[in-house]
Amino acid sequence: MRLATPVAGARILGLGSVQPEQVVTNADLEKRVETDDAWIRSRVGIAERRIADAETSLPDMAIESGKAALKDAGFDPAGLDAVIVATCTMPNPIPNAAAQVATGLGANGVAAFDVNAACAGFCYALGVASDMIRAGSAQHVLVIGAEKLSDWVDWDDRSTCIIFADAAGAALVGPADADDQVGIGPVSWGSAGDLASTIRILGESTNKLHQEGQSVFRWATTAIAPVALDAVERAGLTPADIDVLIPHQANLRIVEAIAKKLRRHGAREDMVVADDIVYSGNTSSASIPMALDHMRAAGRVRSGDVLLLVGFGAGLSYAGQVVVCP
Ligand code: UT7
Repeated sequence: MRLATPVAGARILGLGSVQPEQVVTNADLEKRVETDDAWIRSRVGIAERRIADAETSLPDMAIESGKAALKDAGFDPAGLDAVIVATCTMPNPIPNAAAQVATGLGANGVAAFDVNAACAGFCYALGVASDMIRAGSAQHVLVIGAEKLSDWVDWDDRSTCIIFADAAGAALVGPADADDQVGIGPVSWGSAGDLASTIRILGESTNKLHQEGQSVFRWATTAIAPVALDAVERAGLTPADIDVLIPHQANLRIVEAIAKKLRRHGAREDMVVADDIVYSGNTSSASIPMALDHMRAAGRVRSGDVLLLVGFGAGLSYAGQVVVCP
């Protein structure tokens, strides 16, 4: 038996994201359910979200975001070895999204599979892609987080319909030939299956998303900061080294609680903290790559910045790692 020569590690080479055009404001939702703008802004931090139309599929959004990431890196899709789509909202379990996305990108025939770790999916998939590259199973992997949550939301349930939205975000990952080029740290990941019922699709009669918000909120505000700190330690860094914190955009109060805990452990006051949820809503596996792409476009994240990503959600599942901005 002969193994491929391992490379030092992997790094992100390009980023891209896409959102549907249709904006749904809090005022729009007030017409459908008993809620109000002030409650949504103060309890969740969302001002508006984007919802895809019936003609736009999840693979459509994944392909658009993937094209943007390839363009950003100046990389030809023919050079891809694998496409991983992190998603939990495909309309049916078969076929997966990744194979059609690869074909749609002009990379028909490459390795292609989905990862379902819900809102932690992007960080899971990034960890898998990094290890595939390090071990020599692939050289260039496109990692995409894509969700069409609007298909699964109960638009009469005010506790969930105000939160979730649609989008896709992508990162092209490639080899780092030398130690000082490595741009993706080891993943810190895990699960809490004992809490599986707290976020679930209700039985066949409704097929709609149900969330026990308070239980998930308590879990996210206590269990996730330690995961983020573990990811920092695994990368051989300290919290003070982190320039930008990008947690899954579940709820602005959860994001702020995680940032506060990290600062108590030495993270800098000037650490930039993602708040993409305000105008994007909670887009599950798309939220982290899209927040990063938006922040880079706005000049809030620069090439070479040290970023701490941490995703968490249904499963319950969680994952985080330190990455360097391309
Ligand atoms: O992305 C995957 C991971 N998900 C998360 O991390 C989500 C975690 N959970 C949360 O973000 C929050 O728990 C929610 C945003 C889901 C809910 O916020 P909350 O502050 O925990 O509200 P609550 O569920 O404790 O409800 C408080 C009150 C209730 O009324 P009563 O029983 O006190 O009279 C709700 O019925 O607020 C009511 N309420 C609303 N009121 C106005 C619930 N939804 C709404 C609404 N508008 N949209």
